[in-house]
Amino acid sequence: MTDLQRVDPADPDAGVIARAAELLRAGGVVAFPTETVYGLGAHALDRAAILRVFAAKERPANDPLIVHVATLDAATPLVEEIPPVARELAARFWPGPLTMVLKRSARVPDEVTAGLATVAIRVPSHPVARALLERARIPIAAPSANLFSRPSPTRAAHVLADLNGRIDLIIDGGATDVGLESTVIDLSGGVPTILRPGAIDLDALRQVIPDVVSGRAATLPTTAMRSPGMLPKHYSPITPLTLYEADRETALVRMKRDAQQRLSRGESVVVLSYTEDVGEMGNLGVQLVELASESNPVAVAARLYAALRECDELGAGAILVRTITTRHPLSSAIQDRLRRAAA
Ligand code: TXA
Ligand code: MG
Repeated sequence: MTDLQRVDPADPDAGVIARAAELLRAGGVVAFPTETVYGLGAHALDRAAILRVFAAKERPANDPLIVHVATLDAATPLVEEIPPVARELAARFWPGPLTMVLKRSARVPDEVTAGLATVAIRVPSHPVARALLERARIPIAAPSANLFSRPSPTRAAHVLADLNGRIDLIIDGGATDVGLESTVIDLSGGVPTILRPGAIDLDALRQVIPDVVSGRAATLPTTAMRSPGMLPKHYSPITPLTLYEADRETALVRMKRDAQQRLSRGESVVVLSYTEDVGEMGNLGVQLVELASESNPVAVAARLYAALRECDELGAGAILVRTITTRHPLSSAIQDRLRRAAA
């Protein structure tokens, strides 16, 4: 049985945090909220605990985990060195939704890094995550607390739906703030490269490190999988999802045509709709799940994964959604996650 403990996200109960910290120190597996999504935590230096995380998530062993620490200094034993650019980025963005890939030290188990010569490090800002790290005084490896290839969990109910009975404890701190996983940047050598877009976008990173490039523009070695999270099929609903990447008018015309074709073949269709499209899409006879207004990317990001889960629950034959066209720091992260969901 998985225990679920509700806490005040701004001021978590010390008793619950102490129990969770003890569980982690003893090799247990605990889900907890971060400012991005819920993480599934385990003692990063305990191989058996790490293997429990992979087993609970049904995650392939070649997909490395992010190690969460309370401060930049706490990362020192885990890495070969902390390069000056990492210090600058940490000073600007930590605690917060940025993960840095650095050259690892020998102390980090191969199970955490999937045998790579690097390790991903993040200092989260959520008060529950911070309290847990400070109390446990260990590095906590934590992937998102979902079954592999399901949308990441932004509420404790999502964690329960995927992992009930497989993990020891879920700390319920309500809905997460950002709703999309952290930005991952590779600082392990060569040109600093964004491996996964997130709330800290290219422009923000450029203000600190002008030579940073996004993964798409960068030339990735074809032999090694630099970040398996960059695999196209990831974060996806079970129902096949079609993404319309065009301006609003063009996308709506195509969506309506496809929806009508599917309906006329007797298929059931769910449209994941921006608030401003609900009127237009609503009279087609499709099922609707409302996302948020396209003019509010913060709300779209916060609700995206919950909305994808709602779409799945409707059990339709297809999910149709158009990409976000608003210019905003979160837009490329939202577009990225919609593309992966559609792959
Ligand atoms: O916001 C987040 O980052 C959340 C919360 C819980 O912190 N965690 C998260 O973990 O999204 P996960 O495991 O779902 O995604 C980790 C990503 C994957 O894309 C993985 O491939 C990449 O980080 N990664 C981990 N270690 C890496 C490494 N050494 N080199 C390159 N990519 C790495
Ligand atoms: Mg994940």
